[in-house]
Amino acid sequence: MDDKKNRGELFDEKLMKQIRERFLHVEEDPVLKEKRLFFDNAGGSIRLKAANEAFKKVDEMPDCPEHSNKSALELAAIQAKGTEDVLRVVFNAKTGSLVTSLTASMAIFEMTRAIIENVPGTNVVTTKLEHPSAYDAIVLNAQRCGKEIRVADTNKRTGGVDVEAITKLIDMNTCLLSVIYASNISGAVNDMEKIVKEARKIKPDLYILCDSVQHVPHKAVDIDKLHVDGLNFAPYKFFGPRGMGFGYLSERAAKLPHNKLLAKPSDVWELGSPAPAHFAAITEVVNYVCWIGGHFVKTEDRRKLYEEGMNRINLHERALLHHVLNGSDKVEGLRKMKGVKVFLDYEDLSTRDLIIAMGIDNLDPKKAVAEYEKEGVVAFERVSTSIYSARMLNSFEIEGCIRVSPLHCNTVDEMDRFLMVTKKLADKYSPR
Ligand SMILES: Cc1ncc(COP(=O)(O)O)c(C=O)c1O
Repeated sequence: MDDKKNRGELFDEKLMKQIRERFLHVEEDPVLKEKRLFFDNAGGSIRLKAANEAFKKVDEMPDCPEHSNKSALELAAIQAKGTEDVLRVVFNAKTGSLVTSLTASMAIFEMTRAIIENVPGTNVVTTKLEHPSAYDAIVLNAQRCGKEIRVADTNKRTGGVDVEAITKLIDMNTCLLSVIYASNISGAVNDMEKIVKEARKIKPDLYILCDSVQHVPHKAVDIDKLHVDGLNFAPYKFFGPRGMGFGYLSERAAKLPHNKLLAKPSDVWELGSPAPAHFAAITEVVNYVCWIGGHFVKTEDRRKLYEEGMNRINLHERALLHHVLNGSDKVEGLRKMKGVKVFLDYEDLSTRDLIIAMGIDNLDPKKAVAEYEKEGVVAFERVSTSIYSARMLNSFEIEGCIRVSPLHCNTVDEMDRFLMVTKKLADKYSPR
């Protein structure tokens, strides 16, 4: 493996400082008013100041974006811009429809339902790696429509799903393939381009959905390359506020029968009045990523700026991942630390997002998370007794792990602080 590629690339100090200034509560817990490392961004990321401010400002306006007074027109323009930013910039979709919902789960449930109910085929294919929102949507709808459910196994070494594990389940009678982009437990990024290409070799017009909730905050997704029928994400995991799930649907999927007002065009998936504040907030998230991109490329093209911004975020995060796994002169990395185990760890960091599944000997994950909190680190346990992790962990044959999910606004010094705390806990619970 090319070590240079694995090492990623850190933001320079000046840009790093500016990045951190743009986020809320990077260093201090807003409730406890104590310094802490927030390493639970996979559960909800720290927020951009600009996204929250825009949300508040727009949400204060009582006007209805479908009316014609001047402030209403302003709200309509904010909504149109946000829609454009999600579809054309975040997803890079030239055509297709926007799906809005309260959560990313609700979005993928509806997208899954429309396909399973209306597309011919006797089976649906998914994977053991799915979040319950995608998995349960498959099970509920397939059972109701009398379709067979085929589930691809995970790769116990990488924590992802191999292309062949999926393609061997697909045939001409497959109605839908639903695959997660990146795991919310292992951080493994599935090779979606290859999965789509190989799957469509078997069934050229196969409908494909992809839960991209955990990948969108770490790398640009690209409908123009992927050609899937649906993607989704949640702004609250992408530097923005809670309360919205965004989805993309291809033209053909958008036109499938779905819940809508009868008089609206057949490809409209908005039902009722989504809050314009959410559109203002996502535009600020996109502005922020483009601002990062603008430090590295000179272009007026918003998608190109965004792509470069996400690429730089990805490279910085890879450098943090490399650092935390391998350590430095100051402190040992997780891979070598006595009493510590990194689960689902493999060499190629370019196919992993900044999410680490780890364990400390003689310390159960839930207790470990409490111990970390006492030491000023917020992480989260993923255990097989939780409905949100059972299927994935059982497939890896792991009972539980500590999930550590920093973000690109973290520094190498913060990784070192985390390593020192980990060493303290490992020494305490598994002394040599
Ligand atoms: C991979 C993945 N998909 C879907 C979801 C659900 O997102 P939401 O809470 O917006 O429904 C999550 C939330 O943790 C997730 O990690």
